[in-house]
Amino acid sequence: MESILRIAIQTKGRLNEDSMLLLGETGIKLVSSSRRLISAAKNFPLEALFLRDDDIPQCVADGVADIGVVGKNEVMEQQQKVDIVKHLGFSKCRLSLAIPKDAEYNGLEWFSGKKIATSYPRILKSFLSENNIDANIHFIAGSVEIAPGIGLADAIFDIVSSGSTLVSNRLKEVQNLMDSEAVLVATPNLSLEKQVILDELIFRIEAVEKGRGKKYIMLNAPNNKLDQIIKVLPGMTSPTIMPLARNGWSSLHSVINESEFWVVIGNLKKNGAEGILVIPIEKMIL
Ligand code: PRP
Ligand code: ZN
Repeated sequence: MESILRIAIQTKGRLNEDSMLLLGETGIKLVSSSRRLISAAKNFPLEALFLRDDDIPQCVADGVADIGVVGKNEVMEQQQKVDIVKHLGFSKCRLSLAIPKDAEYNGLEWFSGKKIATSYPRILKSFLSENNIDANIHFIAGSVEIAPGIGLADAIFDIVSSGSTLVSNRLKEVQNLMDSEAVLVATPNLSLEKQVILDELIFRIEAVEKGRGKKYIMLNAPNNKLDQIIKVLPGMTSPTIMPLARNGWSSLHSVINESEFWVVIGNLKKNGAEGILVIPIEKMIL
């Protein structure tokens, strides 16, 4: 029987959207439906298991799923035996301590004797003990940010992304404990067949990542200007040069970073480039 790699993905929320988008970009077509627990890919030996993010580390550690996409924060909190095989760079956020907006903050000492609500008690506990702060940790599974407002806690320790949840609950961030992003985790001791599938998946993800922020550029230039033009093209690859039917002219193709785009275009025009075409890059294999 052929092996199928089973990947755990968050049922809904930010991680779900970004994970599905990434799989889509790697060419893997999943039927996504919130009512279905398992969905098989049409054209790749992969099936997705949709779970609550909090359940993903344990499912992967137990081998119920072979791999999973989950926030690094959950991996750190749960301390399950999973290997982080790739940082995915999306769903970036941080775990921070926040206190009521109007409270006067005098440093970590502020938390001594205070009650802190959180869904991440382990991470918080080890931070507090490293810093010799004696505070009470109050575990809440969700909507942590409302705890101070309803008198359930003095402060919170929670995920901050845009910061708007803090603002709308009249809280301010005073101490960042760790940064988080989505990671790809794998169960230890994957079978050889499944490792091969995982390697192919990672290869495809990396090809998608390398293409991000990059543009393919084509332009025409007189041959006597080519040397100058090549100088103003940031050299990530040596450009391809092809003769044009028009005598004394060539077409030049290269890859540029989107961040340098307008500067490069300006310099190209100054140096006599014409007919500049810029094309998005879907994937890049180096
Ligand atoms: C997190 C966190 C905050 C919010 C912060 O919740 O608990 O509520 O995101 O984001 P912001 O800084 O952009 O406002 P999440 O949506 O991950 O849901 P959960 O707490 O139920 O897991
Ligand atoms: Zn959650």
